[in-house]
Amino acid sequence: MNKKKHKILFVCLGNICRSPSAEAVMKKLVHDAGLDEQFEIDSAGLINYHEGERADPRMRAHAARRGYQLDSISRPIRLSDFDHFDLIIGMDNRNVDELRSLAPDLESEAKVHQMTEFSRNKLYDYVPDPYYGGADGFELVLTLLEDACGGLMEEISGIS
Ligand code: 4NP
Repeated sequence: MNKKKHKILFVCLGNICRSPSAEAVMKKLVHDAGLDEQFEIDSAGLINYHEGERADPRMRAHAARRGYQLDSISRPIRLSDFDHFDLIIGMDNRNVDELRSLAPDLESEAKVHQMTEFSRNKLYDYVPDPYYGGADGFELVLTLLEDACGGLMEEISGIS
């Protein structure tokens, strides 16, 4: 594995449910593999409505039960993110469409991917927004993210 840092930004609508969870799941995989120094992982939202807030308490509670501490603070995506990060990963088609339209050039647009592209079990082709639903939706988010982040880790580092 080369020494250049892998810079990954996860993006959802509000940056309080799905993308902070993806950030925490990926950080734990990287940490458990002893690869902290080789990754930079962050998350952002497409709206600024929740800027400055911690992740949704329901999302935090479900994540904590699986051993993930969600400590990120919501922030909207910035134009400079398209330059800084190598991979910009949206959670659903709407996120990906919006990211592609925000991308300032073709090189940036090529960095945009959908989370489920990396899924191994291919149960879903997007990560559904859990915000207006019940407990099952939050559990589903975590199950889909554990699978897809595992696939992403495998693709980047060869570790499964
Ligand atoms: P997220 O969930 O995009 O996974 O963070 C949502 C959070 C907030 C809202 C929608 C989705 N909202 O409409 O405020």
